[in-house]
Amino acid sequence: MKHPGVVTSLLARAALPAALLLAVAMAWAQSPAQPDKAAAEKGAIVYVRYCVSCHGKSARGDGPLAADLRVAVPDITTLAARNGGRFPQPRVERIVGSGEPLRGHGTSDMPAWGDAFKRTAGIEAATPEEAIRNVTHYIWSLQRTAGK
Ligand code: HEC
Repeated sequence: MKHPGVVTSLLARAALPAALLLAVAMAWAQSPAQPDKAAAEKGAIVYVRYCVSCHGKSARGDGPLAADLRVAVPDITTLAARNGGRFPQPRVERIVGSGEPLRGHGTSDMPAWGDAFKRTAGIEAATPEEAIRNVTHYIWSLQRTAGK
C-alpha cells in the first residue's frame, strides 16, 4: 500500500497546473474587451487615407464629403453605446469589408473596402482583411460613452 503522503503530494502537484490552466482560459475568454493598440495605430493611418473624407477627423460624420451624399454619414464613435456598451467588432468588420448590412450597401455612399484594399497601396497591412481589422480596432479605440 502507498503512503498516504505520496497521494496527497501527487494531488497537490496536479492541482497547481490545473489552476494555472483555468486562470489562462478565463483571461483568454475575457480578452477581446478592448482594442489592440498596435492594430489601432496602423488602422489610424488607413482611416485618415480612406475614411476621413466622409466620416471626419472626429469620426462623428462630419467629413468634407458628408454633405454631398444621399445617405447621412453616421457617428461611428457611438457604435458600442448603440450596442449595449459592447463594440460590435465582427459586424463593423463586415460593414467595412463588404458594405453588409447597410442600406447604402457597397455603394458610392458607403463604399466596401474588401476589394478596394486588394488594389490599393498604403493600407499598412499585408492583406485587405488585416487592414480592415486594423481600421476596426482604430474605430473601436474612438468609442465614447453616452454624454461624453
Ligand atoms: C464616400 C463616403 C464614405 C467613405 C469614404 C467611408 N464611409 Fe463609412 N459610411 C458612409 C455612409 C454614408 C454610411 C452610412 C451608410 C448607410 O446607412 O447605409 C457609412 C457607414 C459606415 C459604418 C457603419 C456605421 C453605423 O452606424 O452602423 C462604418 C463602421 C463605416 N462606415 C466605416 C468606414 C470606414 C472604416 C471607412 C474607411 C475604410 C469608411 N467608412 C469610408 C460613408 C463613407
